[in-house]
Order: sequence, then structure tokens, then C-alpha cells
Amino acid sequence: MTTTQTIQTLLSHRTVRRFTDQPVPDAHIQLAIEAGQRASTSSAVQAYSMIRLTDRAKRQTLAELCGNQKQVEKAGAFFVICADTRRHRLITERADAPYNAALEAFMVAVIDASLFAQNVVVAFESLGYGICYIGALRNQLPAVDELLSIPHGVYPLFGLCVGMEQRSEAGASDPIIDTIPRPRLPKQAVSFDNRYPSDAEVLGFIDQYNVQYASYLEARGATPRGWSDAIGTKFTNVSRPDLATYYQSKGACLE
Ligand SMILES: Cc1cc2nc3c(=O)[nH]c(=O)nc-3n(C[C@H](O)[C@H](O)[C@H](O)COP(=O)(O)O)c2cc1C
Repeated sequence: MTTTQTIQTLLSHRTVRRFTDQPVPDAHIQLAIEAGQRASTSSAVQAYSMIRLTDRAKRQTLAELCGNQKQVEKAGAFFVICADTRRHRLITERADAPYNAALEAFMVAVIDASLFAQNVVVAFESLGYGICYIGALRNQLPAVDELLSIPHGVYPLFGLCVGMEQRSEAGASDPIIDTIPRPRLPKQAVSFDNRYPSDAEVLGFIDQYNVQYASYLEARGATPRGWSDAIGTKFTNVSRPDLATYYQSKGACLE
């Protein structure tokens, strides 16, 4: 079957959580930003920004705020991806016109920022780097906000670790377990023709995946359990309940 280098890069993705100390050269960062900026953007609003953490002390504090995830401190480079309506607000303010925030403006910014980030990620991966998104950045947003002097209209969404992967030494006592790709749902479970499938069909695909997911966990040395089990636990508990309050305080209209 025909394939391309781009598709090979996409298919080889797996999250990397252990990095060497090797820094990421600025030339590569600039290339990745340029690739990120080529992502499609709703009506060219370009509602995103990326903050690079070069200050060691700030990186360390941020790692603590992200649940002490070591990769935040250790990776060659670390960025915070923001949905960003600041520029739009400055434009309307300078024109003495009201900035009318609505849910649509927030959604456009979150979608734009995510497309930008994924382009950045693919660019880095194509250059041979490993990456780890950090959703735990949203654990303590008011503290992140203060640390990075986030202005009104800017919404930090997630962090991004980039660097060269630390490989396990042969016979290491703590071998790296992320080398097995995490399986995904069957293609038929996420892509449909002409109509959405019935609940019974959807549950059938999930049950098929549960078996594969449990084997994957077992191979990693983790307790084998189905995907349903993990998802059931995740979505019966509310996580980060203060997000709306924080994003509204930064100007988001969530209605
Ligand atoms: C928005 C987002 C936030 C994430 N946050 C974290 C995180 O805080 N820590 C972490 O170790 N992995 C994080 N991940 C990585 C996911 O756990 C990982 O992508 C998922 O388990 C699939 O595994 P794979 O990327 O290796 O295929 C995040 C991924 C995304 C897309």
C-alpha cells in the first residue's frame, strides 16, 4: 500500500515520558512554530500562542504544579499552549469597539490552538523528537496564570514536553514501558458512513477493544483492565471542577 513519510511519522507516534538532557536547538523550535502556524485557522483568527519555559526555576515550579511530572522538568524543551483572544481584544479596544465574547469565540480559540499544537508536535516528531502533552497544566490554573503573567483573554490549555527520548539500558531495573504503542479503538468505532451506528454496534466495538487494551496493559506490566473500566472510572468523577470559574475570570463566555 502507498504510504508517505508524513504518514509514517503519524503512525509511529507514542507519548514519550523520559527524556535525555539534550536541549532542543532553537532552529528546530522555530521550524516547528512555523509548521504550527501553517495549520488551518478559523477565518485566519490565529487564536493561539505558545510560551516557552527557559527559566529553570519556573520550569521546576510548573512541574510541581503539574503533579510533579518529571518530564516537565527534564525534557529538552517545555511549552505552554494557550488559546489566545488577547490580540483580538486589543484590536477592538483600540478601535473603541466592544469585544463581544461568546461561546463561539472560546471554542474557535480552543480548536485553533489544538490544531496549531498538533502541527507543532508532528513537526517535532518528524525531526526525531519525542513529545508529551501535559493536561495536568490545568490542575492549578490560577497558580500557572500568576507564574506566567497570563493576561485577560488568554487561556492556558495544556503543556508540551519535547526532547530526545531516554532509552532503557539493557537489564535496567526500571525499564521504559512506553515503548509499546497504546492501541486505539477499531477504525469502525470512530469512522462511519452516512449514519451514526446503533448503540449496540458501538458497544460491540468497545468490547472488542477492551480485550486488546487489557493485553496492552499486561504487556506493560500494569494491571490488565479493559478500556471501559478506565473510562467508566474517569467519567463518573468530575475532574478539575474549577475550570469554568478560572476561564470565565480570564474573559471566556461559556454560555
Ligand atoms: C491534551 C492531552 C493532555 C495529556 N496530558 C498528559 C499528562 O498530563 N501526562 C502524561 O503523562 N500524558 C498526558 N497525555 C498523553 C496521553 O496520556 C496519551 O496521548 C494517551 O494515553 C495515548 O497514548 P500515546 O500518545 O502514547 O499513543 C496527554 C495527551 C493529551 C492529548
